[in-house]
Amino acid sequence: MSVAKKQYKRVTTKSLVDMKNNGEKISMLTAYDFTMAKIVDGAGIDVILVGDSASNVMAGHETTLPITLDQMIYHASSVVRAIERALVVVDLPFGSYQSDPKEALRSAIRIMKESGGHSVKVEGGKEIKESIKRILNAGIPVMGHLGLTPQSIYKFGTYTVRAKEDKEAEQLKEDAKMLERAGCFALVLEKVPAALAKEVAESLTIPVIGIGAGNGVDGQVLVTHDMLGMTHEFNPRFLRRYLNMYEDMTNAFKKYAADVKAVDFPNDKEQY
Ligand code: KIV
Repeated sequence: MSVAKKQYKRVTTKSLVDMKNNGEKISMLTAYDFTMAKIVDGAGIDVILVGDSASNVMAGHETTLPITLDQMIYHASSVVRAIERALVVVDLPFGSYQSDPKEALRSAIRIMKESGGHSVKVEGGKEIKESIKRILNAGIPVMGHLGLTPQSIYKFGTYTVRAKEDKEAEQLKEDAKMLERAGCFALVLEKVPAALAKEVAESLTIPVIGIGAGNGVDGQVLVTHDMLGMTHEFNPRFLRRYLNMYEDMTNAFKKYAADVKAVDFPNDKEQY
C-alpha cells in the first residue's frame, strides 16, 4: 500500500501519533554524535534515538549498563546541535531512574535541561510505573521500551527473543496498556514474536516502534552502526545491512597507509 506522506517540518510526539493514524510508518535510527546525527536528520529520518547502546558502540562495553547520565548528556547534546527536523529521544541510563521516582525525575530533568533533547526513553513495565508518572507529570514526554530490555540482561541471561511463552506475552500486553494509560507517547518493542508485536500495536493508540518485532508495528528502529555494516560481528536475524562500511573503511584506511608509506600522499596539489 502506498501512503501519501504528510510533510512534517519538525517531528513532534504528536506527529508520530498522526503518522500512526494515517498509516505512515515511522523511521527511527540511533545517533550519538554531531556528524552522524546531521546525516541521519538530513536524510529525513523521523526519530533519532540517543540510545544507551552508545555504551557498546561508542565505548566498547559488553553491555549498556556502564554508561552514565553525564555521558548520555554529552552524547545527546552533540546530537541535538545537529538536528533540524527529527524528534530526539534520549535513553535514561541504567541506575538513573529505577531506584525511586524522585531520582527518575531528577535524571530526566537533567537530560532535558543539559542536552536539549525532546524526550526520554525508559526500559520496563509495571515496576517503573511510578517513575514514569513522575516524569510525565513534569511535562517530559516518555517513550517506553518492552520485550528485550538490555539494561536487564543479567536478569534474562541471554539476548534471545522475549515473550515467546504465554505468561510473558500476557505480562507484556498488560505493561504496554499500562504505559499507554500512564501517558507514554510511544513504545519500543525489542525482539519479540512478530504476531505478538502486531497485536500490541493494533491494541494501542500510541505508536509502537519495533526492532526485531516484525512489520506489523507502526515503525522500525535500528542501531545506525549496525545497519551501516560498521559492526560486522553482530549478526541478528532482524538486522538488514544497507552498507558494508566495515570493509569499505578498512580498505580506505589500508589505502591511506599505503599511500603514506609510498610517499604518494600528499601529492603536489595537496600541499601549500
Ligand atoms: O539503545 C538503543 O540503541 C536502543 C534501541 C536498540 C532501541 O534502545
